[in-house]
Amino acid sequence: MTDAIHELRAREFPWAVAGDRIFLNHASTGPLPQRAVRRIHELTALRAEPWRYTTEMQFGELANARVRCARLIGAEPREIALMVNTSYGLNLAARALPFERGDVVITSDREYPSNVYPWMELEAARGVQLVRIPCAGVLPDEEAILAALDRPRVRCVVLSWVSFATGYRIDIERIGRACRERGIWFVLDAIQGVSAAPLDVRSAPVDVVACGAQKWLLAPWGSGFVWLRPDLVESLRPVEVSWMATRCSDDFTRLTDYDFTYRDDARKFEVITLPYQDFAVFLIGEWRKIGIEAEHRPLETAAWFSDGQDTGNFELLVAPTVEFMDDPDQFLGRYATGSTQNWGRFSDPQVDDLFSRQARSLDPVERKRLINDLEKRVLGNAYFTTGLWWSRNLVHWSKVKNYVAPPNHYTNQKLQDVWLSED
Ligand SMILES: Cc1ncc(COP(=O)(O)O)c(C=O)c1O
Repeated sequence: MTDAIHELRAREFPWAVAGDRIFLNHASTGPLPQRAVRRIHELTALRAEPWRYTTEMQFGELANARVRCARLIGAEPREIALMVNTSYGLNLAARALPFERGDVVITSDREYPSNVYPWMELEAARGVQLVRIPCAGVLPDEEAILAALDRPRVRCVVLSWVSFATGYRIDIERIGRACRERGIWFVLDAIQGVSAAPLDVRSAPVDVVACGAQKWLLAPWGSGFVWLRPDLVESLRPVEVSWMATRCSDDFTRLTDYDFTYRDDARKFEVITLPYQDFAVFLIGEWRKIGIEAEHRPLETAAWFSDGQDTGNFELLVAPTVEFMDDPDQFLGRYATGSTQNWGRFSDPQVDDLFSRQARSLDPVERKRLINDLEKRVLGNAYFTTGLWWSRNLVHWSKVKNYVAPPNHYTNQKLQDVWLSED
């Protein structure tokens, strides 16, 4: 074992190096790493004082979790719906895919029951027939499954990627391709495989992937996701309908407009409220991939300023960039040596020189050029990576009357003339 792995193991799984236990992860429930335990504690502490755990933090964490789930399987975040377990995703497939009475679903015998009962329910409720193909010994009989695809009315194949009892991994490519050729949906229960083996849904011929995160993803119980092929995201209707499934849901001032238009991404299948603190744990692993051993600390505003800005008690800071002031001196100061806003404490004589020259320049064209040079220097050296850049906030609510959009936040905001209409 290399030093780095030994160190990581000692840090994340101290019981493993203490020598009193040997735990073989057999994909029942994976152990939580220490960083996940810490993060859950932090977020639970925030939740104890709910005003500190803002809505932005809650939904931001879900958005991050979708990005990370998508990356795991080569998907786009808009194709991911966060679910609390594998069963939820499998039930979604069984109930949302447009089956008709008499259609046939093929599976293997000896599947985990989460992948059997939803289809039995479909059988009982909607007259769809579930056919369990006997195993060859204890392993799924792929030849027999493939042969069964040509039976009449086969609409769907549903299988575990990796079998829970034997660890047998099916040939997704072969079975999926045969399904595609026949216009048969291929639904995968992927919980036993994701993160232990690579899966790329852009090349793998699968239609729905359901995955809980409590096994190889070492995440809390009650976290998981479902991926759907993009055209299914568009065409399927949710079966459980959440208050966050519609397009107007993000605007909490419009909750009782009941604008019943589903989102155009997979969030329409999510059933909010979800355990935000559990999905938040997904983030930490991503920092490590780019070499940052981070502890993720969301802070409420006052603490963010006192802890983040003043003490420099961080390795990487996610800071809002509000670049809509007229005077560049106000927002470029953060790149200059010694500025109180220079949270990264970097010092670059060339940046300082450009900053002071632009501040003294009376020629707008010259000043613009100096600012462009300064920005290039800052971004080129990655002192600061810009995520979202916005220049001003605009009101887009029809009830707000007599609002004139200003050129920026600080000028011509004549709010005394603005009023809200009843209709
Ligand atoms: C193949 C398979 N599917 C699903 C599950 C679990 O389903 P859920 O995440 O819904 O609890 C397991 C194990 O617990 C499993 O081995």
